[in-house]
Amino acid sequence: METEDPLPDRSDEIYRRHFIRPDGTFVGNIEAIYRECDDPWLQTTDAKRSALKRIILLQLAELPVRRVLDIGCGNGAFADLMRREAGAEVLGMDVSATAIAQARERYPECRFEVASAAEVGRFADFRPTALCMCGVTWWILEIFRDVLVMLKRHFAGGLLFHMMTFYAPGKQRYGTEHFTNLEELLPYFAEMTVLETFEHKLYKEDLWIRALLIARI
Ligand SMILES: C[S@@+](CC[C@H](N)C(=O)[O-])C[C@H]1O[C@@H](n2cnc3c(N)ncnc32)[C@H](O)[C@@H]1O
Repeated sequence: METEDPLPDRSDEIYRRHFIRPDGTFVGNIEAIYRECDDPWLQTTDAKRSALKRIILLQLAELPVRRVLDIGCGNGAFADLMRREAGAEVLGMDVSATAIAQARERYPECRFEVASAAEVGRFADFRPTALCMCGVTWWILEIFRDVLVMLKRHFAGGLLFHMMTFYAPGKQRYGTEHFTNLEELLPYFAEMTVLETFEHKLYKEDLWIRALLIARI
């Protein structure tokens, strides 16, 4: 039986053009990425399959009050999974208007707002018991410390799930002055209580290391 060839995956080329160039320069054209990719970073699949996101879902489900602010929620796939699988009330926010329009259309049972992480204090009235930052940190390097200070100011006592991906040692070109691995990331959370960290190594074409840090803000 003949099978159709899958469509060529153009997403890597799109990220190289609109996110980080191969020489490590940051472009950061998020609207172009959402316009040109159906599901950037395979967010829909990743929400269901990521081992580290499973850990987040399990821990969330155990909280007596499950109200989650998802910072950089993208097209909302994981926000909706937190609602369905962990029984959480979720407010997702993202700087991309295109991503938020898609999220609202796909997952009407969650609330989504266009906002930058720099304005996270706007959501203090939502009184989240947990906050999620998955895959957003490379986008906000210049304001990352300020965002963590704002989390402390507005959401003290909440549980923070912070997840990001690192490349194999020596491969990272962008943001190396900030951190290149989990160990170098840890000092940024000195004002919070780090409860647990997890590393998930993915040996695909290259080694990728995804790190989850769970902290009490
Ligand atoms: C790699 S995606 C991760 C999406 C989702 N959290 C997930 O885990 O699938 C990164 C997201 O961060 C968002 N982002 C970039 N800069 C941001 C900012 N300043 N404030 C809020 N979100 C931002 C992007 O629009 C994008 O949707």
